[in-house]
Order: sequence, then structure tokens, then C-alpha cells
Amino acid sequence: MSSKNPKNKISISLPGKSQKIFVGSNLLDWVIKELSLKRYSGFIVFYDKNFLKIYKDLLYKLDQKLKPLDIILVEPNENSKSFVFLNFALDRCTKANLNRRGCFIALGGGIVGDVAGFLASVYMRGIDMVFIPTTLMAQGDTIINKVAISHKLIKNIIGSFYSPNITVCDADFLQSLPEEEISLGLSEIIKHALIYSKPFADHLLKVLPLIMSHPKIYDRWNEIIFKSIKIKGAFVEKDPCDELGTHKGLSYGHTLANALEGLSEFNLRHGEAVALGMRISATISHSMGILSTKDFETQEKLLNIAKLPSKFPYFIELDHIVSLLRKDKISSHNEINLVILEKIGKHRIIKNVNEKIIKNALIKFQP
Ligand SMILES: NC(=O)c1ccc[n+]([C@@H]2O[C@H](COP(=O)([O-])OP(=O)(O)OC[C@H]3O[C@@H](n4cnc5c(N)ncnc54)[C@H](O)[C@@H]3O)[C@@H](O)[C@H]2O)c1
Repeated sequence: MSSKNPKNKISISLPGKSQKIFVGSNLLDWVIKELSLKRYSGFIVFYDKNFLKIYKDLLYKLDQKLKPLDIILVEPNENSKSFVFLNFALDRCTKANLNRRGCFIALGGGIVGDVAGFLASVYMRGIDMVFIPTTLMAQGDTIINKVAISHKLIKNIIGSFYSPNITVCDADFLQSLPEEEISLGLSEIIKHALIYSKPFADHLLKVLPLIMSHPKIYDRWNEIIFKSIKIKGAFVEKDPCDELGTHKGLSYGHTLANALEGLSEFNLRHGEAVALGMRISATISHSMGILSTKDFETQEKLLNIAKLPSKFPYFIELDHIVSLLRKDKISSHNEINLVILEKIGKHRIIKNVNEKIIKNALIKFQP
């Protein structure tokens, strides 16, 4: 494997920090070399346990070249986004004597990114982290200034405004992803197009059929990932700590998704829940006469081509989900606020959405 210097670089300016995101392929030797030149006191590697089964040699290479103080294997399931796992990882970091000048290297999907990122944000009041996301979800919707873990069934309730210093999205890793993981990652990429960019949505309409029929031979992932991150980055840069409300566009589908994920005890995957959340939100804005039938159908088409779910996997108690929506971060004074689409490429927040309208939309998704 030869070392490559990535051409696609995105710099995100955040309060007190600049995050560098590289997108390309065959980047691992390059990143290892870059890290070996930095003056870190030591590394701790967080490595996705399933990913290890496929990419054992990569861990060996990291171990040989960077001599990390410890390697922590992360079980890639939502239970790892908990204080129980954090305690375990914290024990390992302190036993390894990692100090403030140390750095985490996180390799895996969004679970590994969130767990390592949250710990990096609080360990010794914050240390550096390099994130190498290996799923389409963790690349296309890569971490920018928000990391979180969950409490019992409340998803992402404990979090920090924190970014990895360097993120390296290597599209080669997508080769080994099962088709289901491609679909799940596409849900967030489609979301970015829907809330912000009609040209990107049109592009996805064109390429998704090809991607879904031959995901392994598709060789232009870099463009899609780059565009998706650019959109997310622009939202976060404008409102890094969610103070102006403009950041909230990124929550399209997520208020409903968070509730659905919790209700399913995390059996519903994040990408599936986001797709359902976007379909429900679009049903609401269509029924309110905001979203046109044509644009409603465009969203449906994108999500259908990506093979994302269109029904709840089981019957859902409507009152329960409505009570969870009232508690979501975006809602206030017990009123339900939602991000909805006005048209393809444009979103808005609607406040105090009528409960009956929500329930009428939800009923359509019962199995
Ligand atoms: N903080 C953020 O900005 C942010 C953004 C997106 C997602 N997330 C969080 O990330 C989680 C979802 O992330 P995810 O979808 O990546 O799931 P995940 O981390 O569970 O990974 C999905 C599966 O893919 C496997 N895998 C990883 N890389 C692989 C590869 N290259 N080849 C084959 N298999 C591979 C993993 O082992 C796992 O089984 C959720 O908890 C979500 O809240 C956070």
C-alpha cells in the first residue's frame, strides 16, 4: 500500500479549534506517517471489534509504527455508548498513564467515534483525537463538534461540543461494508441533500440506482462523502454550539428518530430511524400544505432507492412516542417543535406542531 497525500481537504473553523477532514482512498499509510511526526506523548487506539475481524493487519501496522500505550476494542453496539463502557475505557487510559499531551486514535463506525470522542472531550479536560471513520454513516455524517453517549434508553442525552482534530475518511473501507450499512449511511447523506442542496439531491437521484446495484464497484464515493461533509460542516460552522438555531436543520428526521430508537430499545438502527423520521416529517409538512406532492415524492424516491424502511418494524403506541417528542432537545415548554422540509434543498423549523397532525402521520407508518 503506497502512501498518498489526500487532495480533498475540508477545514472547519470551530471555537478554539480547527478540524481538518481528509477524504480520499488509500490514506492509511499517509495518516500513520503524519501521526508519527507529531509530538504526542502517546496514543491510545480505540478499534471496532467487528472491524478487527476484517482488518487485523491494519491494527498490527498501527501497533508497529505508532507503538500505542494501549488498544481498546469497542463492541459496536449502542450499549457501548454508556458510562459503563466509559468507566472501563477510563481505567485503561489511567493505567496506561495517558497524559494531556496524548492522543486518541479511533477507528470504526459512529459508535467508536462517539465513545472515543466523548471520552476525549472530558479526559483531562480534553485531549486530541484522530478519527478514522470506517462506515458510510460515520464518513458522510462525520463527527463535527458534537459527540454523545446515551443514558439507558435516552439516545445521545450526555454529550459535549467536541471535534476530532483530524478526521480521515478513506472510501476503501466501504468495500467491506454489508449492503445494509450502505443503506443506513445513505440516510444521513440524503438528509444533507434534502435540507440544503437540490443539485446534490438531483445528483443522488441519478447515481443511487447504480450505487445500490453495485456498491462495491462504485468508485466515486469520495465525491458524495465530500459533498455531504461540506454541507454538515457549513451548518456547524455557522452555529457551532447550537445557539442560533440554524444548526437545528441537521436534526431533520432526528427528533422522531431519537424517540423511535429509544422505543425500540435500540433494535432499530440509527439510519433506519432517521429515514422513518424524515418520512414522517415529510408526511406532516405535506399534510400541512407546506411540502408539494412532487417534492414529497422525490424524498420518497430517494429513500426507497436506498432501500430504507417505510414502516415501523412493530406496532407503536402513539401516545408514548408523542410524550417522547415533547422531551426532545428541540422541543420547548412541552410543545413539539420539528424540522420539516419546505421544498427539496430547503428546511424550516415549525413550532408547537399540532398533536393530532403528528398522530395522523404516525398512523400511516404502523405495520
Ligand atoms: N456524533 C455524530 O456526529 C454522529 C454522526 C453519525 C452517527 N453517530 C452515531 O453513530 C452510531 C451509528 O454509527 P454507524 O452506523 O457507523 O454504526 P456502527 O458504529 O455500529 O457500525 C456499524 C457496523 O459496521 C461494522 N463496520 C464498521 N466498519 C466496517 C467496515 N469497513 N466493513 C465492514 N463492517 C464495518 C461495525 O463493526 C458495526 O457492526 C449511532 O450511535 C449514531 O448516533 C454520531
